[in-house]
Amino acid sequence: MNDTFLWVELYRPKNVDSCVLPNVLKNTLNDFVCEGQLPNLIFSGAPGVGKTTAAKALLEELGNTYMMINGSEESGIDVLRTKIKNFASTVSLHGGRKYIILDEADYLNPQSTQPALRGFIEEFYKNCGFILTCNYKNRIIPALQSRCSVIDFNIPAKEKQKLAAEFMDRTISILDECKVNYDKRVVAEVINKFFPDWRRVLNELQRYSVSGTIDAGILVDIAEVNIKELIHCMKNKEFTNVRKWVVDNLDNDSTKLFRRLYDSLYDYVDGSSIPHLVVILGEYQYKSAFVSDQEINMLACLTEIMARGKFK
Ligand SMILES: Nc1ncnc2c1ncn2[C@@H]1O[C@H](COP(=O)(O)OP(=O)(O)OP(=O)(O)O)[C@@H](O)[C@H]1O
Ligand SMILES: [Mg+2]
Repeated sequence: MNDTFLWVELYRPKNVDSCVLPNVLKNTLNDFVCEGQLPNLIFSGAPGVGKTTAAKALLEELGNTYMMINGSEESGIDVLRTKIKNFASTVSLHGGRKYIILDEADYLNPQSTQPALRGFIEEFYKNCGFILTCNYKNRIIPALQSRCSVIDFNIPAKEKQKLAAEFMDRTISILDECKVNYDKRVVAEVINKFFPDWRRVLNELQRYSVSGTIDAGILVDIAEVNIKELIHCMKNKEFTNVRKWVVDNLDNDSTKLFRRLYDSLYDYVDGSSIPHLVVILGEYQYKSAFVSDQEINMLACLTEIMARGKFK
């Protein structure tokens, strides 16, 4: 699909004010716009909360020339050096300072590329600034962190409800504009489910909107996709992701989860290991009626399935 058909791109906020962000954060960004200049910045936070969007919006509003570099695609030191040098060493058409958005900077090698970047930041200080975005601040070497102001995109618990409501309004106007019918409660549930990953919310809604109406079916649909995701993690023995899955999905009734796993065994698991897995499911389902913490019980069950199952 062409990117311009994706809601996430089409409806990417163009200025700071239309981004759904915590108050303090929005004020900080607006202060930068008023001052007309930026320090070097690191935007850090969970996926889909608006780091890249905010970086672009900020530079658009300031009217500075900027270039995007994706750290997860172009992490080689030579490519980076050439790109940065070519861009930073020529004078900007408007005469103003130029900026480089180094997206997903936590993917840059901390042994080679990140230390080199430290040098570039100083070398081109006069006419080029940097905004680094990352999911994990601790993967950025301290020497870079100390050259930048670190801005945290995490959402404080007390603003959760307000921001979810704001994003709900935004989503509804997108659905109206695209002439998609919807059940408001279902849209609210999708937002709650993926909060604060706004990208995921829009993508799930767009994917399902092909059917014409956003109704309760999308929740079932999401559940299906989720099972696929889970099986994928189990197959690759990604314990951490399996654990994350349990945390994300345990708001569903745990007995239903056991049933769904049971039903999907035939699709994803080799026939020879099914009997064994059924015994495991049976045992943990029985235990789930008595245990005090469903999360631990479910994770223990999945860990055992992960160890014993032969996945297709
Ligand atoms: N704060 C927000 N307000 C409104 N829309 C948002 C916001 N954050 C994300 N979106 C929507 O989600 C899309 C993806 O957001 P963006 O690329 O900024 O995420 P990100 O924080 O950079 O995530 P990643 O860590 O995965 O790079 C945007 O194009 C926009 O449509
Ligand atoms: Mg991003």
